Amino acid sequence: MKMLTTSKSDIALAAAALAGGALVAFPTETVYGLGGDAFSGSALARIFDAKKRPRFDPLIIHIADLSTLDKIVLWEALDNNARKKLDLLAEKLWPGPLTFILPKRPEVPGLATAGLSTAAVRFPSHPVAQNLIRLFQGAAAAPSANLFGCLSPTKAEHVREQLGDKVDYIIDGGRTNLGVESTVLDLCAPLPTILRPGGCPREEIEAVIGTVGTGPVPSGPAAAAAGGQPSPGMLKSHYAPLTTLVLHPAGKLRDIPEKKDEGKLYFKTPAGKTPLSENTRILSASGDTVEAAANLFEMLHQLDSLGLRLIHAEETPQDGLGEAINDRLRRASVSRTPLPECALAGKDTGQFRPGR
Ligand code: TXA
Ligand code: MG
Repeated sequence: MKMLTTSKSDIALAAAALAGGALVAFPTETVYGLGGDAFSGSALARIFDAKKRPRFDPLIIHIADLSTLDKIVLWEALDNNARKKLDLLAEKLWPGPLTFILPKRPEVPGLATAGLSTAAVRFPSHPVAQNLIRLFQGAAAAPSANLFGCLSPTKAEHVREQLGDKVDYIIDGGRTNLGVESTVLDLCAPLPTILRPGGCPREEIEAVIGTVGTGPVPSGPAAAAAGGQPSPGMLKSHYAPLTTLVLHPAGKLRDIPEKKDEGKLYFKTPAGKTPLSENTRILSASGDTVEAAANLFEMLHQLDSLGLRLIHAEETPQDGLGEAINDRLRRASVSRTPLPECALAGKDTGQFRPGR
């Protein structure tokens, strides 16, 4: 694995590597992605292997040019109404943290889409992601660059810790600014439906196309393996630290006594509670959901490295990015069997304490 900068020559090198079938982790405005050529079966297989990701969990295909949609989308299978909504949303909210589920062309390898007749497509706004994909002149399948089921990476260092030599290059573009993954919107459903809340708030989507539905409650790996859910990646337990996380209703966290071996993750500064212990993190002092989303995974990474017995967290308001934050916190609080890949990796860092 080689670390790259965001210089022109490094991005050119990474683009050539993608074209040659290599795996390149790169920053996006949400989290780091583990990129490979979406039309190369062997690159796709390497992505699943590197992440230890089950093959029933489809990948998001990243583009940097609207015309690339023609290589991915089976337009004749998308009804006129959905097409209009796509055009409106793409005009207002792309490039950005919004992923569309659209009918796929037969040329898109089934491995990228877990054998579904649809593909997930996103046009990221991050300049490094855009330059890389444009120079590559293709489409990059890129799941979040973490081991399956584990915390998503918001820094190049997180990618290096989790994936190491399983990735050929990591472009270090500093911290990602949004911090939660893109919103996944199914445009093939009769009513456009949010399958995964994320970096594009529901309100912004509804301002463009009116009311959208909410995806089914995730039903766990067994149901997913049986193909029993429309968004196969939406597992109940996901995006989780290794330390057990207990989620409390908003405002209840301040009443829990401080303990040496327990951490706390506040949404905002609790009234009248100073000083706070070193095991405490505050997502946003002023209670701003955008700032909170940007800090979420980084602070979970930090608390997870402290060797605590428990992390207590609190729900945030549900508006704006709060919906995505609450979704990730709920998934992080679900107990996991079998253990996630980061627990089994046995890496010698706090985050990879084996056996939990
Ligand atoms: O922000 C993001 O979306 C990041 C960055 C790197 O762009 N990527 C990301 O990808 O989060 P990933 O692979 O970790 O999440 C993809 C999720 C799947 O788990 C699944 O829930 C949904 O997108 N998905 C993908 N293809 C789908 C399909 N055809 N139908 C329904 N859901 C799909
Ligand atoms: Mg992911």
